[in-house]
Amino acid sequence: MKTESLRGRDFLTLLDYSREEVETILDVALDLKRRFAIGEPHDHLLRGKTLFMIFYNASLRTRNSFEAGMTQLGGHAHFLEPGKIYAPALAGDERAYETERVADVARVLSRMGDAISIRCYGDPVGWVYGKAHEIERNFAYWADIPVINMECDKYHPCQALADVLTVKEKFGAFSGVKFVMSWAYSPSVHKPRAVPQSAIIAATMMGMEVILAHPKGMELDDEVLKACEGYSEKYGGSFAISNDMGEAFEGAHVVYPKAWAPAILHAPPVGRLDEKRAQEIFDANKGWICDEEKMKLAHKDAIYMHCLPCDRGFEVTNEVIDGPQSVVFDEAENRLHVQKAIMVLTMR
Ligand code: CP
Repeated sequence: MKTESLRGRDFLTLLDYSREEVETILDVALDLKRRFAIGEPHDHLLRGKTLFMIFYNASLRTRNSFEAGMTQLGGHAHFLEPGKIYAPALAGDERAYETERVADVARVLSRMGDAISIRCYGDPVGWVYGKAHEIERNFAYWADIPVINMECDKYHPCQALADVLTVKEKFGAFSGVKFVMSWAYSPSVHKPRAVPQSAIIAATMMGMEVILAHPKGMELDDEVLKACEGYSEKYGGSFAISNDMGEAFEGAHVVYPKAWAPAILHAPPVGRLDEKRAQEIFDANKGWICDEEKMKLAHKDAIYMHCLPCDRGFEVTNEVIDGPQSVVFDEAENRLHVQKAIMVLTMR
């Protein structure tokens, strides 16, 4: 594959990338990880380049991995908080002297730097499902430089790449790996669907045996499910949905239990912004916790994954997340390496 095809590209969802392109990013990530491990300088790769990072939401891993990554590549990551700048807004959502049209922000930043990355979901877009992704697409339309998704309401492609890189490191291959993305209980219903949706996209694209497990009422986006079915047919894995966490865990090599919001929490037309009903559905499923009993159902060499932050004592017990099967810190570290690869390949 010509890596030239990645130069200047936006990175908004893995659905925009071929499997070959994703594998190239993973290969480059492993090479950058090797260089980082042995202290081989690579700060010439993006020397003098600037990444603008717009965070509408909080972050630990994403912000710090992009900032550290740009430093290691010789560039600079510039943090922009919508409360402290004119918040980028779509036409029709503008408020005088508080917001600035995305079209204008994108064109201004394109004159000053080399890429724009955005995190936006939930409250800043009133839980209108897809609106944050629309903002990112609008940035991509107007910007002359790559736009990178640092998590929107639909996708978290950087997390998904770190997830599959971690699986590759642990199992050496994807074929035959049973990957279970499961809903888990959290006291907070305000959880975007970006991580599970991107995880199942990446896992089916890599040809794993993928099970999506959740209680009734926690269904994910139909478009994503259709894409996963397509990838599983094309790449020789499988994709199935279960409403039983224990059944899904049977023989699994990878378990990835985390909370996400039901459709009903979202604003119309997807839901009815019904927090009370969302909380009722959550509270009826408190048994969806990843504990040592459930881990015993999985393969003896199974790994426990979570994007973090996790809700200890609710999504997972301390024994599991701090136990020998947990790979959550490898997964977090891999955010650094995959994002450096994305930046090097798209921002050159
Ligand atoms: N997993 C993840 O995106 O972490 P942060 O919310 O801390 O960035």
